[in-house]
Amino acid sequence: MQNSQLISFAEQFGSPLYVYDADIIERQFKRMTDAFSDVHQLKLNYAVKANSNLAILKVLKNLKAGADAVSIQEVKLCLKAGFKPNEIHYTPSGISFEEMEEAVSLGVKITLDNLSILEKFGNKYPEISVCIRINPHVMAGGNHKISVGHIDSKFGISIYQIENIKEVIAKTGTVINGIHMHTGSDIYNIDAFIQATEILLGVVEQFDTIEFVDFGSGFKVPYKDGDIETNIEKMGERIGKRFNEFCKDYGRDLTLIFEPGKYLVSASGSFLVKVNVVKATPNSVFVGVDSGLNHLIRPMMYDAYHHITNISNTDNSEQKVYSVVGYICENDTLGHNRKINIVSEGDLLRIHNAGAYSYSMASNYNSRYRPAEVMTYKGKDYIIRKRETFDDLLSNQLEIDL
Ligand code: LLP
Repeated sequence: MQNSQLISFAEQFGSPLYVYDADIIERQFKRMTDAFSDVHQLKLNYAVKANSNLAILKVLKNLKAGADAVSIQEVKLCLKAGFKPNEIHYTPSGISFEEMEEAVSLGVKITLDNLSILEKFGNKYPEISVCIRINPHVMAGGNHKISVGHIDSKFGISIYQIENIKEVIAKTGTVINGIHMHTGSDIYNIDAFIQATEILLGVVEQFDTIEFVDFGSGFKVPYKDGDIETNIEKMGERIGKRFNEFCKDYGRDLTLIFEPGKYLVSASGSFLVKVNVVKATPNSVFVGVDSGLNHLIRPMMYDAYHHITNISNTDNSEQKVYSVVGYICENDTLGHNRKINIVSEGDLLRIHNAGAYSYSMASNYNSRYRPAEVMTYKGKDYIIRKRETFDDLLSNQLEIDL
C-alpha cells in the first residue's frame, strides 16, 4: 500500500491505527490454494485467532475459506460473518464441557484434544462424529513459546496414546471423522513438518472412518529482508503428491485441511503510530510513539521483529539508528537499534506485518484505548472498527459506593 494512502488514513482516523490491505489476503489465499492444487479436495480453514475482525472474516468467507475457531466467541464471530456452521472447525484446548455443549448446539465441527473429553463427549453424543487432535511430538515451531508439537506440550492427544483412543471409542461408539495436528507457528523446516505429516498419516491408517486430515498450520512469512519463508510451493508439491498416494492406498479421497493464520493475514497489515518524542540519551536515541505493548505485544512476547519505516520522511536518504519504544510504563521496545529515515516529533511510523496476532492480542493495559482499524479491498476503503472511548473502558465496570 502506498505511504500516501496510509498518511491520509491516519489524517482521517487518527493514530495509532491498524490498516489492512485485503487484496494481499486474497493474494496469499490464492498462492496457497495454487501451491496445493494437486490435492483433489483441499480446504483452507482460516485461523480466526490471528485477526478476528468481522470484515477480515467476510473477505475469507467470500474466498471460500472455512474457519478454525478456538473459542466459542470465535465460533459466534464466524457465524456472524456468515460462515455456515459446518464450515467452522472448533479446535479448542482445555475448555469446559459446557462450552463444548454450546458448540454442539451451534452445529459446528468438533475437534477434541484429550481422552477424558473424548469419553465424556462420546457418552453424551454417540451420534456425533469428531476429529481428534494428535500430538506427533515433532519440534517444528520457530520459537519455544509458539511451538506446540513437542513432548512437553499441553496440546493434543499424544501419538503414544492411540490405543487409549481406540479403547474409548470402542466403549462409546464414537466415529472419528478427522485427524488433526498443529505443530507450531513460524515453521521454517519443511522436513520436520513432513516428518509430522507422515506420523499423522500413520494414525489415519488405523481408523477406517476418516473423511479429512488437518495438518494445522505454522507457515512462516518473512518479517524482514532476507528472512526465511516457508517455501509453500515446494511444500505443496511434496505434501500434495504424498497425500494423493496415501488416499489411493486408503481407498478414498480425503479432504486435506490447513489452518493458516499468519500466512494469510500477516503481510496485509500495517500499524501506524505517531512519534511523540525523540529523546537522545548518552547511549541511544529513543523514538517514543503513541502506542506500545498494549497494541502490539509480539516484539516483547516473542522477540518478534517487525520492520519499521518512517512514512513522513520517505525521500530523505539519510538514516539514523533509533530504538522505537512505546508509551507503556514497562520496557516496550517495538524495534531496537533500527536504521530509520531521520525521525522528527510528529512523524508517522509504519510498523509492517501487523495483520496477524497484532490487534487480536491487543489490550487496554495502562487504561489506553484500543485503536481503530481500516481495510482496503478492491479499490474501496472501509472503516472496520472504531477507536475505543472512555465509555468503552467503563462499559463493564460496576461502580460501587464506598
Ligand atoms: N491451528 C491451530 C490449532 C493453532 O493453534 C494455530 C496457532 C494456527 C492454526 C495458526 O497458526 P499460524 O498459521 O498463524 O502460524 N501469537 C503467536 C502465534 C501463536 C499461534 C497459536 N496457534 C504469534 O504472534 O506469533
